Amino acid sequence: MADAPSTVAGERPGYFGEFGGRFVAETLVPALSELEQAYQEIVLSSEFQAEWRGLLEHYVGRPTPLTSAERLARALDPDGKMVRRLWLKREDLCHTGAHKINNALGQVLLAKKLNKTRIIAETGAGQHGVATATACAMLGLPCEVYMGAVDVERQAPNVARMHMLGTKVIAVQSGSRTLKDAMNEALRDWVTNVRTTHYCVGSAAGPHPYPVLVAELQRVIGDEARAQVLERGGRLPDAVIACVGGGSNAIGTFRGFQGDADVALYGVEASGEGIPSGKHAATLTAGRVGVLHGSRTKVLSDDNGQILEAHSISAGLDYPGVGPEHASLQATGRAHYLAASDEEALAAAAELALTEGLIIALETAHAFARLGDIARIEFEQRGRPVDLLVTLSGRGDKDLATYTAHGLGRHPAGSGGAA
Ligand SMILES: Cc1ncc(COP(=O)(O)O)c(C=O)c1O
Repeated sequence: MADAPSTVAGERPGYFGEFGGRFVAETLVPALSELEQAYQEIVLSSEFQAEWRGLLEHYVGRPTPLTSAERLARALDPDGKMVRRLWLKREDLCHTGAHKINNALGQVLLAKKLNKTRIIAETGAGQHGVATATACAMLGLPCEVYMGAVDVERQAPNVARMHMLGTKVIAVQSGSRTLKDAMNEALRDWVTNVRTTHYCVGSAAGPHPYPVLVAELQRVIGDEARAQVLERGGRLPDAVIACVGGGSNAIGTFRGFQGDADVALYGVEASGEGIPSGKHAATLTAGRVGVLHGSRTKVLSDDNGQILEAHSISAGLDYPGVGPEHASLQATGRAHYLAASDEEALAAAAELALTEGLIIALETAHAFARLGDIARIEFEQRGRPVDLLVTLSGRGDKDLATYTAHGLGRHPAGSGGAA
């Protein structure tokens, strides 16, 4: 059971500083209010927590391990001057292959308790879609998942998995045909079917209460990691790092350490083909304040406030918004946000495979791409070798086609190996 629930103490409910809120069609307000009440009364109750945590333990496979990545640490820092220990929190070992299952099981369980008879979701990389399809199959609810047509193509294995789990995948043809458009369509469906349907949002984004609900369901990552690092290493890490799409694995990780003022928090988003190219998804690095999917947050927009198309090689980071709590953590300086390009993410994925035997998700690879820089920053500030912890949010099976298309599936000698 979580010791301190995720709340927005002392602020307007649903706001993190100036970010957050509930900018939605009137028809959705009662459903969001019902969900807010259910969050307080059901999700935070000891009965729900016991049932959900039982599923996490006996079905998902939690606690996930903490791995000490010694070869990667030495690859980043051959002399051992900057990096003392490098810990990996292994969400790739969750059932279905990513952290998304923690949230999906929690929300589908909640939907059952609210007597909803149908679940919808949006998905980018397909991991949230697979997680929701899995939770629905396991708990006996019908499920439909909206997915951009581009993502349907680049994440084909996950589409097949959803079909096998009995879920209908609806390919969205509008806009950039990626995650933003899938979320638009899911919201449209929800407006029409709100009485019977629960919308299982896949990240710590969207209108209140989703950002707090998802953060609460993902804090298991950070809570576990904190206890494991203390037990194994005897001290807290100096910095924790996670990739940021909508921001759920990052906020779940940060939750465990937010109260530890001396632990630096880093999120890494996607700079795609580079910020100057305009083809990126670096919302926190290069975006501005705006409203997207019911939330005031940082977005990619033009001078007229129109949302721009995002680009990332990784479907799960290809989103022109970000969860509002991240915008606030950036504004207050509590967390720092960096960006990694498509090329850098591919190189990091190659390096993880060769040094640690881990084929990681492309989303996750962005976090690893900035590790060397973060180690340097923290070492220079602290003047001693540092301990780092990275959330390995998912495994790379779904990305094998992209990896091989970029030469990573060839023999190391022929592929150029690690960068
Ligand atoms: C493995 C993995 N990591 C990270 C993400 C990004 O989402 P979030 O920022 O909500 O963790 C995704 C999204 O699909 C994902 O599949």
